[in-house]
Amino acid sequence: MTEPEAVRLVPCEPGRLTNDELRSLFLFEKLSDDQLTWIGEHGCTMRVPAGGLVLREGDPADQFFMLLSGTISLTRRVGDDDVQTVRTEQRGVYMGATQAYLRDDGVPRTYQASMRALDDAEFFVMPAADFGHMMRDWFPMAIHLLEGLALGMRERQAVVSERQRLAALGALSAGLMHELNNPAAAASRATSALRQRVAGMRHKLGMLAAGKVAPAQLNALVELQEEVIERAAKAPELTAMQAADREDELGDWMDERQITGAWDLAPVFAQGGIDLDCLTAIERKVDPGLLDQAVHWIGYAMETEQLMSDIEDATGRVSSLVSAAKQYSQMDRAAHQWIDVHAGIDSTLVMLNHKIGDGITVVKHYDRALPQVPAHPAELNQVWTNLIDNAVQAMNGAGTLTISTYADDDHVVVSVGDTGPGVPENLRKRVFEPFFTTKPVGQGTGLGLDISYRIVVNGHGGDIRLESQPGDTRFLVRLPVTEPPSA
Ligand SMILES: Nc1ncnc2c1ncn2[C@@H]1O[C@H](COP(=O)(O)OP(=O)(O)OP(=O)(O)O)[C@@H](O)[C@H]1O
Ligand SMILES: [Mg+2]
Repeated sequence: MTEPEAVRLVPCEPGRLTNDELRSLFLFEKLSDDQLTWIGEHGCTMRVPAGGLVLREGDPADQFFMLLSGTISLTRRVGDDDVQTVRTEQRGVYMGATQAYLRDDGVPRTYQASMRALDDAEFFVMPAADFGHMMRDWFPMAIHLLEGLALGMRERQAVVSERQRLAALGALSAGLMHELNNPAAAASRATSALRQRVAGMRHKLGMLAAGKVAPAQLNALVELQEEVIERAAKAPELTAMQAADREDELGDWMDERQITGAWDLAPVFAQGGIDLDCLTAIERKVDPGLLDQAVHWIGYAMETEQLMSDIEDATGRVSSLVSAAKQYSQMDRAAHQWIDVHAGIDSTLVMLNHKIGDGITVVKHYDRALPQVPAHPAELNQVWTNLIDNAVQAMNGAGTLTISTYADDDHVVVSVGDTGPGVPENLRKRVFEPFFTTKPVGQGTGLGLDISYRIVVNGHGGDIRLESQPGDTRFLVRLPVTEPPSA
């Protein structure tokens, strides 16, 4: 780390401005002589040589500046870049502690931008406390109005993002219900089928026993059952063609031996990895008179096994959805903590699964060795949601969503990429503006990226960038791996 650049502000000689000089600054033009004298006594003139730093973004805002001569630029730090926001040589422009008159709300005020002298520049400078005191004392009504404005703006922003949050939550819970409904229904269907099969098995067992099956035979059957279940667990997945061929083979074999319901059993066996060898093994192990019962017994065993794994899948899916929802909303976590970004991205993907749909392939390139970042996890999840949501909408049902993570300097970068049409050059600057949307009225509020930008840049000291060409659009979120000084 290099030493931060020093502020190069030095007092001018003589430091004091006359009332006439002060009156020539547009802010002061309507003030009385007494007022100007007071200002002259509380301020002084300072200069900064060409190229020097006048004030630094993020430092406590304790001085109010007015430009007397020279050219200055204001810059804001965005990621690694200094972005120039203003460049002016207008005499009388003011900056620095321009809000010193607002009521102290416990939040220390800092300079919102850095100021640099582009050529030798002179300023009239006043301590923030004096400036604030003067404003409140001389213009109480104006201050009320200004406070109202500032507060109103802050509240409007809060209300808007609260709205957006609620809307997002509404959409998500609808999606979640939909997602939960499928496995729940599957589990309850499988359970009632299982009940029938188990009843059938009890019945079969009774018949096998009543048929005076020798204990050795019964033993052989139970062993067979175990073998078959194991085989089913390891059964390779058959293609549709292979499965059909296998069913035909097994059906014919059982038909020849007059097994009842041969063609109902055939698909169950085929799916469970049973082949002709296996059936002949069964035939060898049991008395010919018992073959029909034995084959059905095995059939039941396979079916119950399949149903049980269906239930396991479905209930597993329910609990993974619930834990994703929990992780997503961070219901049981504190606000600011050190996190691995992948957990949040994965839970967001689960939550958005229904929106992503089957036509979109999701590709993940995760660097699992990334360091943790200091973050508000629930807020970052909103960022992933907005970016993925946009990507999915841009692809309109077909394409590839690529999520990559990697380290870059002191940052963790998360890239959300899509293969949609991209953002045209002339719109690229505007997509982060609040209410900017190209979507039909009622479909987009245009807040997704604005909110994401504020979360990443203001909330986490990071940066969001857009790189886009048709077929390859990426939003890059950079998060610092060290805590920002203000957090
Ligand atoms: N991945 C993308 N591909 C193409 N255009 C995009 C992409 N992401 C954002 N945009 C453009 O940026 C605009 C602003 O995005 P933003 O998320 O802020 O609002 P929105 O998606 O229109 O509405 P909202 O997110 O509030 O529902 C979009 O309307 C779209 O034109
Ligand atoms: Mg959006």
